[in-house]
Amino acid sequence: MNAKVKFQELPWDIKPGKPLSPWTYTNPEFFELDYEAFFLRRWQLVGHINDIPEVGDYLSRSIGRDSVFVIRGKDGQVRAFQNVCRHRASRILAGEGNCRGVIRCPYHGWTYQLDGSLMAIPQDEHFPGVDKTQYGLHEVQLENYYGLLFVRMLGDGPGVAEHFGHMGRYFEMYGVENYVRCADAPDQVWNCNWKVAWDNYLENYHIPIGHPGLNRLLIVNDDLGESSSSGVDYGIFELKTKPSNDELERRYQQMSVHAQARVPAEIRNKWIQFGFAGNLGIDFYPEIVDFFQLVPLGPDKTMVRTLYYGHPDPTPEEQQLRDINIEVNNRVNDEDLTLCERVQQGLQSHGYAPGPLSGLEVGIHYFHELVRELVPVARLESAPARGQVAESNRAAAVR
Ligand code: FES
Ligand SMILES: [Fe+2]
Repeated sequence: MNAKVKFQELPWDIKPGKPLSPWTYTNPEFFELDYEAFFLRRWQLVGHINDIPEVGDYLSRSIGRDSVFVIRGKDGQVRAFQNVCRHRASRILAGEGNCRGVIRCPYHGWTYQLDGSLMAIPQDEHFPGVDKTQYGLHEVQLENYYGLLFVRMLGDGPGVAEHFGHMGRYFEMYGVENYVRCADAPDQVWNCNWKVAWDNYLENYHIPIGHPGLNRLLIVNDDLGESSSSGVDYGIFELKTKPSNDELERRYQQMSVHAQARVPAEIRNKWIQFGFAGNLGIDFYPEIVDFFQLVPLGPDKTMVRTLYYGHPDPTPEEQQLRDINIEVNNRVNDEDLTLCERVQQGLQSHGYAPGPLSGLEVGIHYFHELVRELVPVARLESAPARGQVAESNRAAAVR
């Protein structure tokens, strides 16, 4: 685990990549297993510490069918809780805002302190003998990584910082700690399994065909970057100097100079992408960072959440550059949506068996190995009988 291997050093002649079997992308019982393994037991981004600067500020996020919120307490501490009332399960908070002293459930009005403890029950004479100390909100693990707030609902294991390891220096170079939210994007629903969208995020092999615009803008060099078995990947792209024949892209090229002074020379004119398995893409540009977060809604439905952060004081030119960036990358996003939905359709085809992975798809190789490790039943080539997937998973785990 955690060995860092460069793309070019992988012994592909010895171990050609074998993709996951198609059934793992469509089977509802498998979806339950990979949902727990990846979304409940691994770190999920919620937002940035600067989203909740004041006492009582909160930010809630769905993670598929689960929901969490982070909130700043009276002591200034930020805590994370499951967004579910201890009385009869109502979601408590929606979106973001300020709680003004107490967290109040909108159903029957149970109130909780900002530290999660149960404060008051309306008409509590009807709850004789109830010990309020036993009904505080469920706190979940929280880690602040360069200002980014990550939660983990279940289990333990390496922290966020440990996952990123030496790659943290990039977060430092961009100054992410001081970033603030700088644009909004509507959530999208893609008709594909979350792993299809994640596979797609992990490889650049599709760029020349799938993203002609990106291909005009970027030099893609898979030697610059790293994939690791811990589930963290990054790739570095260089901006081309040859003017694009597309007007929007040309404007981006011309304007990009305005943000370069923000970052050290090493990362000027570069786009750097991080993948945090298996659902968070982090796309760094000198002018902005976007977080591309996959939220699983079902075996063939995934919500794509995009969050934008940047320096708090952009010049008008930088602001313009950010707007163009978002437009350029929205095109890419739309192209990816189409590509991923086509794959999901294809995966359901009778008799389809996956082809080989190339050396340009090494990130997928690692990701699929991670899926097999965390959900061992994924090693089977075909689906167990209906109702047997969880049991087969337990059996595969002890083997
Ligand atoms: S469900 Fe929250 S007060 Fe009843
Ligand atoms: Fe893509």
